Amino acid sequence: MLPGIIYLLILTVEKSNPMKKQLIPFIVLEVFTAAFMVSAFQTPTQQTQSTSGIPDSVYVILKKACMACHSDQGTGLAKGKLNLSPWDGYSADRKVSKARAICKEMKAGTMPPRRFVAKNPEAQLTDDQIRIVCDWTASLSIEKNN
Ligand code: HEC
Repeated sequence: MLPGIIYLLILTVEKSNPMKKQLIPFIVLEVFTAAFMVSAFQTPTQQTQSTSGIPDSVYVILKKACMACHSDQGTGLAKGKLNLSPWDGYSADRKVSKARAICKEMKAGTMPPRRFVAKNPEAQLTDDQIRIVCDWTASLSIEKNN
């Protein structure tokens, strides 16, 4: 696709004004630079970071312990109660109330469900991991009230 665009650009410049021919290398360079910037910024975001607005330290925990059920790819009942995939689009109020529920369930040890942990031992959370999530959920309430 890119070579086609460049070819068209060259044709346009050539037809409109032969004097502008000197500009061609700059146009080509610019198109390549733009394409490179777009790809450089896009690829790492998709691979290593959540696009959800949840900090990475929290996201890795939720991803392994919760998102099998609580995400677009999750299960009906769980997804209906809490879907983490569209998190960034939630209103501040919704984030705060969902976040409170997340911390509460984790502290109580009811989420992730025991049966899930039995089958997925990596979803067994340590107190430290629960604290990381609850610190984040608390910070959302503070942010909202300020
Ligand atoms: C194996 C699937 C599964 C996993 C993994 C899982 N959940 Fe759930 N979760 C459910 C289901 C099913 C429900 C709805 C039924 C219920 O409330 O018990 C639910 C409900 C919830 C609710 C709503 C409770 C309510 O009463 O409204 C919250 C909050 C929640 N889960 C948080 C979490 C968090 C946080 C994790 C990860 C630490 C997690 N869940 C992991 C299946 C799961």
